[in-house]
Amino acid sequence: MAARRGDAIVALVAICAALATLPDARVHGFKANDFKKCETSSFCQRLRDRPDGATREIYSIEGRWEPIGGRGGGWGALLAKAGEPRPLRVELTPYGDEGVVRLRVDEPAHPRYVVPDVLVDSLSPSEFADVQFAQGGGKGGEGARTVFTTKNPDVDVVVTHAPFRVAVRVRGHETTVFNRRSLFEFEYKRDAPPEGESWSESFNSHTDSRPNGPTALAFDVTFPDAEHVYGIPERATSLSLKETKDATGQAVTEPYRMYNLDVFEYLAESPFGLYGSIPVMLAHAKVNGGASKRVFGTGRAFSETVTSAVYFNNPTETYVDVTKSHESSILGKKVQSVETHWMAESGSMDVFVAPGPTPAAVIRQYTSLTGTTRMPPSFALGYHQCRWNYRDEKDVAEVDAGFDQHDIPYDVLWLDIEHTDGKRYMTWDAGKFPTPRRMIEDVASRGRKMVTIVDPHVKKDAGYPIFKEAEAKNFYVKKADGRTDFDGWCWPGSSAYLDVTSPAVRDWWAGKFALDQYEGSTKDLYIWNDMNEPSVFNGPEVTMQKDLVHAGGVEHREVHNAFGMYYHAATAEGIARRNGERPFVLSRAFFAGTQRIGPIWTGDNAADWDHLRVSIPMVTTLGLTGLTFSGADVGGFFGNPDAELMTRWYQIGIYYPFFRGHAHLETKRREPWLFGVDATRTIRDAIRRRYQLMPYLYTLFEAAHREGSPVLRPLWYEFPDDPSVWAREDAVMLGPAILVHPVLTQGAVDVDVSLPDGVWYDFDTGEAHLGPKRWKYPVTIADVPTFVRGGHIVPRRDRPRRSTSAMRRDPLTLVVAPDAGGDAIGEVYFDDGVGFEHETRDAFVRRALTFSRHKELSIADVSVERVLILGAARHGGAVVNGEARDVVAAPASTRDGAPANAVAVRKPGVRIADDWTIALAASAGG
Ligand code: GLC
Repeated sequence: MAARRGDAIVALVAICAALATLPDARVHGFKANDFKKCETSSFCQRLRDRPDGATREIYSIEGRWEPIGGRGGGWGALLAKAGEPRPLRVELTPYGDEGVVRLRVDEPAHPRYVVPDVLVDSLSPSEFADVQFAQGGGKGGEGARTVFTTKNPDVDVVVTHAPFRVAVRVRGHETTVFNRRSLFEFEYKRDAPPEGESWSESFNSHTDSRPNGPTALAFDVTFPDAEHVYGIPERATSLSLKETKDATGQAVTEPYRMYNLDVFEYLAESPFGLYGSIPVMLAHAKVNGGASKRVFGTGRAFSETVTSAVYFNNPTETYVDVTKSHESSILGKKVQSVETHWMAESGSMDVFVAPGPTPAAVIRQYTSLTGTTRMPPSFALGYHQCRWNYRDEKDVAEVDAGFDQHDIPYDVLWLDIEHTDGKRYMTWDAGKFPTPRRMIEDVASRGRKMVTIVDPHVKKDAGYPIFKEAEAKNFYVKKADGRTDFDGWCWPGSSAYLDVTSPAVRDWWAGKFALDQYEGSTKDLYIWNDMNEPSVFNGPEVTMQKDLVHAGGVEHREVHNAFGMYYHAATAEGIARRNGERPFVLSRAFFAGTQRIGPIWTGDNAADWDHLRVSIPMVTTLGLTGLTFSGADVGGFFGNPDAELMTRWYQIGIYYPFFRGHAHLETKRREPWLFGVDATRTIRDAIRRRYQLMPYLYTLFEAAHREGSPVLRPLWYEFPDDPSVWAREDAVMLGPAILVHPVLTQGAVDVDVSLPDGVWYDFDTGEAHLGPKRWKYPVTIADVPTFVRGGHIVPRRDRPRRSTSAMRRDPLTLVVAPDAGGDAIGEVYFDDGVGFEHETRDAFVRRALTFSRHKELSIADVSVERVLILGAARHGGAVVNGEARDVVAAPASTRDGAPANAVAVRKPGVRIADDWTIALAASAGG
């Protein structure tokens, strides 16, 4: 791994040496000089410090808006500036009925590349409800404006003609303003560079020939009254994005960069962009000038808020500056806004605005464009055990047996690159893995699965049939000449790269996963795609040259950030085709829409407390941008975690939507039972909690599949009107009902717990707390402050088993956490956990659960084992479907997951699929 920098020779030498003695990777560390900065990217340098509109020619609408013929409800107009004879064309198009609008600008004579396949196929424009044109009094069209009212009566769009501005308003309040600072720029296509100049650009030892010249674009988006912006993953930094430029225009840090890269030993705090990109930014603003209202009885100020988001539909390299400005409003009040400046190297100016007004609405609107989370097979939500590398079949058998010996549940065992014959993917090292099919069948006989890694570089070896076939079919990415196959260095040495932007290549590649093609595979073998940024050890910034050529003559620069997603999509299609069931493929690179394909992980983190901490904002940020199925390597990839860090990492890892332990080749073995008896017990308890919560988790995934909602959420998502939580990342919500305050510091004896408004019940003791409340919660290594939110019902399965499949028919426990008024609601969703039938017919069960202290509990081939009612220690018995039943108060043992401050209605004799009622009688004393 230390070999991943530098030129081919260095890479080759270290690959040969990989199994011998690699130096401690940390000595090398993150090498900033291997990567570009704004100032070493010519387009960013040209665009970043442009003065705002006051000093330059700026764009104005020319003429009137006209409906776009035959294409649905969009409207178009010409956009011109003085001194430029070629006007651009602007289009404004509504989608759906929630007020989503798309703003596009293009050069009619030279239409820019718009990436196909990212927006969902079914997406088609809707209509504006109304369009009103108002002529202004000023000369040159000044004051003229057009108001487009969307189908959502709360959302309209005001376009000011001169200078050109577009403001999206929610209930009359401007939330997202495009070009308020007149930073919109569009570099026109030119035929040749000016005399004596060249378009080519060098970085380190690489030259980008840039045959098409500069075609960058930039735009500004202001979020008036916003204090916080979130999104634009992937980077290891805070949830609420810090400013990169101050209000005076001084750079504070580099702008945020979106350019998918294999960043070796990334830092735990940096604006630098990592393996994937989702150009979505959410803003959270106070409305009505920030007026806040006091909520009676809580002593807390709450404000009315609006969340909105922009999505830049373009996979080219993009930088974003964030500035938080304070202006004085007309009434002399301080008003804050967040100003953002987007700078993209190429492609089309194509921006969608999701008007909100809630975080949930924003994500629903955004995922209506790029799709929602694919429903995962249920095993995928279990624990995954990986390392680079499980050595041979014996090692696999021993690790698998280790879980059973130590009574630790797990679902999937992973094999990294060393299992192959010389890094020829979809082959096996015959010495170490002589009988792969038997090995997989053995693991599968206990209800578990296996995963092998398949990377996008293809070893250039005439004896490797995949290489030969793709070469003969002309399926590789081409050099800048458009004809010769590109070759780059990666794990196998000299490699070719499949051009997965081509549908024909993807179709062929998907076919390679058929059982008769991939020797030694079975239906229980799933896939891991790595290095798909793509990683090219000897390429500029460890990736492909931008002037390489894809199908249809498309330059790599245009599609870079989507390349990994195309590879991931083709692989997942292969597994879906092979099994006729839900695929499972993990990817490292991603783009907007990856949620439709499968999970991602946050790459090569390190076994230290900073990387543990930053994993939380990294995963929640991905959730806010539609890609909720993600997780960090538990334990940290590089380095050796001690028992404490390992335990703390499992205790938060169980809440990552994707939960996998993984480690670098050079690290000490770290299966969960290798850290001593006490740590094994604590880790076992943590992993068992993950499995206990599986019915709740699966229900949350189904909600993510239906409407985009994130499984793991920042507090802000659940409490948008409480300013004290807007930037918090020390606690997270698993769905709406469980708040976790992970322990993120070494040697912690307590945790500063801060609960938002409402009633909260300690997950372990059942003790009730009335929020808002702050206190120091004492912890031992076994404790993680975890709370169930009043007003919610959490479905669980409390019998420890070896895997998800072993739990399929287990009865449920329903944990009822009443709110202050005595009510609670919840939901539980089941389907067969593997197939697609839930999409086309009623092959699922979704039950709404409601509880009212004053009424009854009405609930849905699974029985209910017991119903735990928190905070109801006093009772007068229960009546189930009209029959009196025993109720156990304050169960003596908490071992089976029943907290002390609860009553349990055991074996109510009902099935989750039926309608039934439990009436809890009031206690004799009231
Ligand atoms: C990359 C991956 C890591 C994997 C290694 C070998 O560094 O990020 O997870 O173990 O390659 O395949």
